[in-house]
Amino acid sequence: MKDSDAIVQLKQLKARALAIYSKFHVGALLETAEGEIVEGFNIESSSYGLTICAERVALFKALTEGKRKFRRIYIMGDSKAPCPPCGACRQVLMDYAPELEVIMFSEKGEKQQATLKELLPHAFSGDSLPPR
Ligand code: THU
Repeated sequence: MKDSDAIVQLKQLKARALAIYSKFHVGALLETAEGEIVEGFNIESSSYGLTICAERVALFKALTEGKRKFRRIYIMGDSKAPCPPCGACRQVLMDYAPELEVIMFSEKGEKQQATLKELLPHAFSGDSLPPR
């Protein structure tokens, strides 16, 4: 999708985030290999640590729907600088979408881009686990 379309969609999406406690709204658009877009926003809990980030909401929705191959993720938060995915999301995204391109936007639409591998070098993976 075009960056300008992603920015419009992300602004609308993050406005719907259930960021009841932090008031920091995040939207994520996960693009599948086929070009489908799956939306996610952050969902917070009164037990703060149970909060789930926008990126993982989008990924888990997509996986639940049977989608397995992903090209890129667009992220926007209520931040002055482009919003990077947190460490937990980097790990889970790496488990399911290691080739992902990560497009990060500030609330004003300034862009930063990196591969997931650049954001999470030397990642842990299932390859490190003993054979079952
Ligand atoms: N958050 C995300 O949804 N994605 C990120 O990449 C960073 C943080 C959420 C979690 C929490 O609801 C709020 O932003 C503040 O940390």
